[in-house]
Amino acid sequence: MKNSQKICVAGDHAGFELKEIVKKHLIKKGFNVQDCGATVYDAADDYPVFAADLAKKVGGGEFDRGVLFCGTGVGASIMANRYKNVRAALCFTPEMGAMSRAHNDSNVLVLGSRTMAEEVSLAILDAWLSGTFEGGRHEKRVRMLDEL
Ligand code: RB5
Repeated sequence: MKNSQKICVAGDHAGFELKEIVKKHLIKKGFNVQDCGATVYDAADDYPVFAADLAKKVGGGEFDRGVLFCGTGVGASIMANRYKNVRAALCFTPEMGAMSRAHNDSNVLVLGSRTMAEEVSLAILDAWLSGTFEGGRHEKRVRMLDEL
């Protein structure tokens, strides 16, 4: 299966293992995936570096979407949401993944590797990937995220 969407994945050492699993999952689903690091496990690396790099690339249009990882997902989402055109959603359930697409048009999914089981992460990812933005009344609200 081929999917034209370009997805970037990135995360620190805490998210490294989950990133590798998610990457394989995305490739199997036919997405065009690029790994923006970390490329090796290094306990001294810093989540803001990877989150900022991915956010610049998604916010700048180089990628359609991104998936970010860190231990809790909190640090990576704080960093990513500082960038224009980035709507990063830290999700803990598949429902949150789907709603973050439907209402918030999230373009970055953030997963905490230390806060949930691998199967849950993949279920969230699948719900997020197949979710669609509802538009309508949510259009104006999403615009407000950049305007206010
Ligand atoms: C790294 O130990 C950890 O602090 C980081 O992955 C993340 O959870 C920060 O929010």
